[in-house]
Amino acid sequence: MAQNDLALDAFWMPFTANRQFKSEPRLMVSAKGMHYTSDDDRQILDGTAGLWCTNAGHARREISAAVSKQINQLDFAPTFQMAHPLPFELANKLIKHSPENMNHVFFTNSGSESADTALKIAIAYHKAKGNHGKTRLIGREKGYHGTNFGGISVGGLGNNRRAFGNLLTGVDHLKHAWVPGSEFSKGQPEQGAELADELNDMVLLHGAENIAAVMVEPVVGSGGVWIPPKGYLERLRKITADNDILLIFDEVITGYGRVGHAFAAQRFGVTPDIITTAKGLTNGAIPMGAVFVQSKIHDAFMHGPEEVIELFHGYTYSGHPVAAAAGLATIEIYERENLFNKAIELESYWAEALHSLREFDVVKDIRNIGLVGAIEFKPSDKAGERGYKVFHECFWQHNALVRCTADTIAMSPPLIIEKNQIDELMDAMRKAIKSLY
Ligand SMILES: Cc1ncc(COP(=O)(O)O)c(C=O)c1O
Repeated sequence: MAQNDLALDAFWMPFTANRQFKSEPRLMVSAKGMHYTSDDDRQILDGTAGLWCTNAGHARREISAAVSKQINQLDFAPTFQMAHPLPFELANKLIKHSPENMNHVFFTNSGSESADTALKIAIAYHKAKGNHGKTRLIGREKGYHGTNFGGISVGGLGNNRRAFGNLLTGVDHLKHAWVPGSEFSKGQPEQGAELADELNDMVLLHGAENIAAVMVEPVVGSGGVWIPPKGYLERLRKITADNDILLIFDEVITGYGRVGHAFAAQRFGVTPDIITTAKGLTNGAIPMGAVFVQSKIHDAFMHGPEEVIELFHGYTYSGHPVAAAAGLATIEIYERENLFNKAIELESYWAEALHSLREFDVVKDIRNIGLVGAIEFKPSDKAGERGYKVFHECFWQHNALVRCTADTIAMSPPLIIEKNQIDELMDAMRKAIKSLY
């Protein structure tokens, strides 16, 4: 039954056209496995893992049992100058999956906090090494690093920046890493690696001695799903390493199996200095983020008098016991069900199914890697209209949840998806596009 009596006004919804939504609300009331149940009692196939988070599928009993046990045993304990065992256990478990030498984990509560934590660590690292000038940050057009001031300053999405006045100074942006002619590439586009060389120009312009870090999403997610050209990340790595600039991968979406390895860093064979994560860390069940740093970064702080705090940064809930319990239970599921390999196993099936939608004239481009895919539509006179209509049609007429960003539909199902459910998802998209265009 639709919840017609629910008062919708008080909740100011994030990243939502509030008035449009509240005139026709889309409400989920429960979830299990690959499906949501909507308030009008329909089974909705989850083509988005919630919001790129529920990689192990919904309502995993192992996670809810761990959370429930933990909240009854120890609901909260500080991690400032005190601690409890769980974040240590979780950090140890996590570093078994992180790239080599990324042996230290700083816990946060979200992707946005992970982004700002990473940027602060990068600047403080250079200071700790005596390089006080290295403060400039470099992001990239279309980058999304959450919504805190550091993240929006380094991020490259105009709508997320322009209403908020003075952002961080000393920030530059690399060009969007995509060249025309790459449309309908399956996986990584062949062309475009040379776009990374723009970083050399920035080094010439500002001086390596003034640049702290470059932050990119290895696969751009919220900005429309853009796959790095072959060789691009490798070049970024080389230029950053040559100039003592830290490379930060924002893996809030790509972390925890989305592109067929635990991290995109491993998928692409490029090891950054810092990796930011959140979302899939707890399967979305409890808010938590984790920032992985290379030992050389952590160790640079471990000097000076032992009684002095090494990094003046942290959150009340860094390493929260209930979140850590959810994280431990989640990683155990990923390990037991081999979910970090699932996206590679399904990648070609996913790609073929997705690219079959090329038959429609209205489709401008299709992009994919691992279990991520995007269909970009040629815009109508009103930018974003087509993306929204397809999303709307999928939800109301075809019982499928996809995600629209302007005229792009992004899909990123839970990693437990079966081939017949991939067919079902694409069928929903096909029917939606057919009925509209
Ligand atoms: C790459 C990336 N970084 C950061 C964030 C921000 O995460 P949160 O919404 O948990 O703050 C997101 C969220 O979608 C993201 O995709």
